[in-house]
Amino acid sequence: MPAEIANPGDPRAAGTTLHAADGFLRSGKVRDLFEVGDRLLLVASDRLSAFDVVLPTPIPDKGRVLTGLSRFWFGLTSEIVPNHLLGTSPADLPAGFTDEAGLRDLRGRMMLCRRAKVLPVEVIVRGYVAGSGWKDYQKTGAICGIELPEGLRESDRLRQPIFTPSTKAEVGHDENIGFDSMVGLVGAELAEQVRDVALRLYLRGAEITEKAGILLADTKFELGTALDTGELMLIDEVLTPDSSRFWDASAYEPGRAQASFDKQPVRDWLEAQPWGKTYPGPELPAEIVAGTRGRYVEAFQRITGASFERYLKEDVVA
Ligand SMILES: Nc1ncnc2c1ncn2[C@@H]1O[C@H](COP(=O)(O)OP(=O)(O)O)[C@@H](O)[C@H]1O
Ligand SMILES: [Mg+2]
Repeated sequence: MPAEIANPGDPRAAGTTLHAADGFLRSGKVRDLFEVGDRLLLVASDRLSAFDVVLPTPIPDKGRVLTGLSRFWFGLTSEIVPNHLLGTSPADLPAGFTDEAGLRDLRGRMMLCRRAKVLPVEVIVRGYVAGSGWKDYQKTGAICGIELPEGLRESDRLRQPIFTPSTKAEVGHDENIGFDSMVGLVGAELAEQVRDVALRLYLRGAEITEKAGILLADTKFELGTALDTGELMLIDEVLTPDSSRFWDASAYEPGRAQASFDKQPVRDWLEAQPWGKTYPGPELPAEIVAGTRGRYVEAFQRITGASFERYLKEDVVA
């Protein structure tokens, strides 16, 4: 029976309410991973990272927003590419996996998944010029080696979305790479298949978020090959505020940086603190926590058209 926090003392342990169960593998910035037979259990915690630092204050239900949105998108994209999702109900877990409180906490934030060999690249698609893409464009007139028209302003929409893979850095920042480098890493056939799938996923996502008044500036997918069959599948989280740059369409104004739909209250508050953006980050005040939770819930409701209260009560996205 679980007794201890999976990773005591680690700043990432903030917001971990599921105690170490048998099969604990590791914790990422946001998710805790467990092995359940031949399946993988992903548990999205309420941890929030800003400026690459996981903050000590959790945002209540944030992990449920991420999981609910991913569930929604897995359902809408399975014709484009199969995905890792096998189950989302605590009842799908083996008896005795955790206690009653653990099961209650898992509700809405867990995904039982097929295990994948994760591709060694971040699969990024950009529909707008922002972030590292804007920096790259100012320096080179291109993003990841993809030549773009002259005179683009920050946050301008691209005529067509572009595929801009990057490396997965163990430490420090990921580095943008050209498509040729990706071919070197995974081979031409897989690289082309991934590019095709990623662009189609982006277009599907952008079409749906735009109807909800949210622009999908760019997004990162994770793909892997199934350990059993070797087929390409979509893994991790999909088109969530954490994996995507969402902008409020009603405030969109190219020529400057845009506010982040979900994290802006936290970023603005952090920028005003005497803090060097290294560990440990400051505790967030209650009103910033509440405001940020509100933005995540709003993203869930606008994009899915479903009630978050109902998601919490009934564990359905409807
Ligand atoms: N189906 C899967 N098979 C294997 N690994 C997976 C699968 N789905 C997600 N992962 C991995 O689980 C981890 C999720 O934890 P997360 O907190 O999001 O990590 P990170 O800090 O890298 O963003 C990532 O390392 C991701 O690659
Ligand atoms: Mg992640």
